[in-house]
Amino acid sequence: VGMQIDIVSVFPEYFDVLNLSLFGKAQSKGLVSVHAHNLRDWTHDVHHSVDDTPVGGGAGMVMKPEVWAECLDDLLGLEPQAITADSDTATAIETNTTDESGETDTADNTGDADETGETDTATQNSTLDGTLTDTPSEARRQTPARNLETVLIFPNPSAPLFTQRDATELSHAKRLVFGCGRYEGYDARIPAYYQAQGVDVREYSIGDYVLNGGEVAVSVMLEAITRLLPGFMGNPESIVEESYTGSEALLEHRQYTRPAVWRGMEVPDVLLSGDHGKVDRFRRDEALARTDAIRPDLIEQLDCALLSKADRKT
Ligand code: ADE
Repeated sequence: VGMQIDIVSVFPEYFDVLNLSLFGKAQSKGLVSVHAHNLRDWTHDVHHSVDDTPVGGGAGMVMKPEVWAECLDDLLGLEPQAITADSDTATAIETNTTDESGETDTADNTGDADETGETDTATQNSTLDGTLTDTPSEARRQTPARNLETVLIFPNPSAPLFTQRDATELSHAKRLVFGCGRYEGYDARIPAYYQAQGVDVREYSIGDYVLNGGEVAVSVMLEAITRLLPGFMGNPESIVEESYTGSEALLEHRQYTRPAVWRGMEVPDVLLSGDHGKVDRFRRDEALARTDAIRPDLIEQLDCALLSKADRKT
């Protein structure tokens, strides 16, 4: 069976587009199965309200924890638990994210690392005040290929950036549950609670700009993740060489097709030479130069040990 994907939103119709195109095909092939749920189905009041004013004041509305919890408990098959003042949340969280032997938690879907023998470096950690914090980039760099079970994901503009590395890691999960926040966000206890229950919880921003809600961000993450599933793409090779893939993240070299001269503009000679070594070198130089010019932050993150002598000259 394929990857199971649940999306919770107050606008579930937004995800009707997933029945189209490549994603629709992947669903009929059984690679993925997607269900979009309406959060309001878990309300009990006549107004089906899902939000309330922020505690401490401020503009806008914040999504209430109770409705989210009823919904997520249902989807994750969890019983409601009270986090008591003396229950050591911090310890529970640490046990769940670093313990290989697992079996300590109440949830049946903790994504125990499948005896990879590696330290299960969770990419995000929860702190006692219920915020998820980014781990140092060093730890993120060496994310082991682990078989994730269920991962609960909340898009959030104030979270760590979602990268190709995260997409790759999450493409190995059995099940993804996305919670789309609306308005000014959601109560911070929601992700913290599920993390304390042993669930693998992530919060991600898709970029340094603010959207009206999580729906678009979830679509972006979903596309980045699912296109990596074996059999999803028509041509699997097209995902091997592209930007941000592999051990280094470089912008891709530019592409050309025929004609060799178009409106007086020429395709670079070397690409027509038929000399594969030269073509590779040209493309690699261009990738390095363009990345240096456009995204110097990516060059800084490069593992210098992976650069050849010729690379260094560029
Ligand atoms: N919700 C609103 N803006 C967002 C962003 N940039 N990334 C993820 N979720 C968001």
